[in-house]
Amino acid sequence: MSRISAALLSAGGDVPLFAALIAQGAGAMAAFGTSFAVEYALGAPPPLLLVLAGQGAAAAVVGARLGLAPWWIPINLALPPSAGLVLMLGLPGWVYLALFAALLLFYWNAGRGRIPLYLSSRRAKEELARLLPVRPDRGASFNARGVKPARGQVRFLDLGSGFGGTVLALAAKREGEFVGIESAPLPFALSWLRVTFSGLPQARVVHGDFWKHDLAGYDVVYAFLSPAPMAELFSKARREMSPGSLFIANTFDVPGETPERTVALEDWRQGRLLIWRM
Ligand SMILES: C[S@@+](CC[C@H](N)C(=O)[O-])C[C@H]1O[C@@H](n2cnc3c(N)ncnc32)[C@H](O)[C@@H]1O
Repeated sequence: MSRISAALLSAGGDVPLFAALIAQGAGAMAAFGTSFAVEYALGAPPPLLLVLAGQGAAAAVVGARLGLAPWWIPINLALPPSAGLVLMLGLPGWVYLALFAALLLFYWNAGRGRIPLYLSSRRAKEELARLLPVRPDRGASFNARGVKPARGQVRFLDLGSGFGGTVLALAAKREGEFVGIESAPLPFALSWLRVTFSGLPQARVVHGDFWKHDLAGYDVVYAFLSPAPMAELFSKARREMSPGSLFIANTFDVPGETPERTVALEDWRQGRLLIWRM
């Protein structure tokens, strides 16, 4: 197998959007090639929606061959005919641009980092509030605002804090300092507004990339992300977090690392909190 075909075959696992794009390109060539052949032979092209459905079917097959997860099959199948139907509505061009911009501002990391936006359930927040330890007596560093949490007050960090719901729920229930870091512009702006007008001075959200954020000094680091970053994130947590602090993952395991404790959430997505002591 050539290097290029091996790279293409691994693309579905490593860079799914790229693989999906290749699959659609290949599907379009197959479907429109067939359409031109039919037109040449019969003197009339097949209906456009049929050609687009053919593109979707071919893309689904190529995508699976490139290693895309099974849930890409309906996406690849439906995308070309749906795009055709929407184009028939004759909407002005700026509508597509506005939709694209809104999706980009919300799902900033979904393509590259493979971490989309969805939110912790109420059960997850309740369990977290119950699980948060009382701060161990091991002197915290000063935070960005020059405030040092008092003894007995925990320092909590939500990696990828979305709309800030987890930070706010915990700050309302427990003493301590509750920080969220979020890189997607729109969720960050909304969470900043929520936190600013919450009247909870112990809550804070910062805009940034959690890969560049030092995890030292936090008693609890919480991650509800996706399967993609977990192994690398756990290594970062092991390097940076202090002995005795807790790393809590919602639902997504760390490959090869058994948690010290698991708490079933019994929420609608049957999530679990996986807890490691560093
Ligand atoms: C599944 S949501 C979790 C939201 C929130 N923590 C909660 O539990 O409700 C993951 C969030 O992580 C954000 N995110 C992804 N990669 C990030 C990164 N490198 N730095 C900061 N935030 C990131 C996404 O934009 C998304 O809002």
